[in-house]
Amino acid sequence: MFARIAGVGSYLPGLPVSNDELARRGVDTTDEWIVTRTGIRTRHLAEAGTTSSDMAFEASCRALESAGVKADELDLIIVATSTPDYIFPSTACLLQGKLGNVGAMAFDVQAVCSGFVYALNVADKYIRSGSHKKALVVGAEVFSRILDWKDRTTCVLFGDGAGAVVLEASETPGILATAAHADGSQNGILSVPGQVCGGQVTGDPFLRMDGQAVFKFAVRVLFDVAKECCDNAGLATSDVDWLIPHQANIRIIESTAKKLGIPMSNVVVTVDQHGNTSAASVPLALDAAIRDGRIQRGQKIMLEGVGGGFTWGAVLLQF
Ligand code: UT7
Repeated sequence: MFARIAGVGSYLPGLPVSNDELARRGVDTTDEWIVTRTGIRTRHLAEAGTTSSDMAFEASCRALESAGVKADELDLIIVATSTPDYIFPSTACLLQGKLGNVGAMAFDVQAVCSGFVYALNVADKYIRSGSHKKALVVGAEVFSRILDWKDRTTCVLFGDGAGAVVLEASETPGILATAAHADGSQNGILSVPGQVCGGQVTGDPFLRMDGQAVFKFAVRVLFDVAKECCDNAGLATSDVDWLIPHQANIRIIESTAKKLGIPMSNVVVTVDQHGNTSAASVPLALDAAIRDGRIQRGQKIMLEGVGGGFTWGAVLLQF
């Protein structure tokens, strides 16, 4: 039994905000710097009051529609997010309430930008075990809420959005192999080191990053985990039709693809349009390439995530 993608959907809030617009809003930056260093041209920023569960709901409705599945048929709902609506209940339970589903198992996964790939990995195990038949797996983020708009080294990089897939138990292949890892000793290179305690914010409530350390780490582990995933499936990287890496920086994406020997014509890139949307970035890119007809049924797709923790992982699937 395989976990097979039955439908995909995504959602980006509002209109794209350009690099020049960020500069006009007071960020000490230029379009030239951002495009050269990151490949990012625009991002979407949620309005005040729009939450991760709101965007997860929009993306999920589209994924359910494309799968031809009704919300009440779901028996598993997993939301990957580092920007949940509340401390609790989970964003997955809030999404479940909005969808009108009662009874599915629902919980969040917190693995930052690897979150969606981690969540797919978990859902795959439930479906393969036979305990669950229809899963909704979502990545949803409002990173704009945890950005320090006075820190130009981070605030230009991130955006908001959501992406979702419906997985179904199927005898037709689906997810072929997964791999996921973490190294907690690297927790300090990308973090939001704050919390709410006694009614006060303690520590630092904004995203902090050692960009160069993250860059080096990301290229190494994205190569390693893609190889590991191919090995687990008994396939070569040349068998991969589409590589969909975490959309953080075009230079990380290009370096990873080059090391793997996968031409950029077989890599899905959307970072230019929505920046780094953390757990939402992989399903946003997957949905874009399915909707525009690049990805076809039967093709092999490698999804990859890397993020704070540090965490990383990959999922190799037959669409
Ligand atoms: O999910 C994972 C998320 N994280 C990432 O993907 C980040 C990975 N890292 C990176 O993408 C890159 O390290 C960055 C894009 C963040 C930075 O690029 P860099 O080539 O490592 O630049 P840098 O940090 O070495 O900074 C170079 C210069 C500095 O000026 P000085 O000190 O050389 O005068 C910065 O102050 O660029 C300056 N700078 C900026 N200038 C204009 C930093 N941010 C900006 C900015 N606009 N937004």
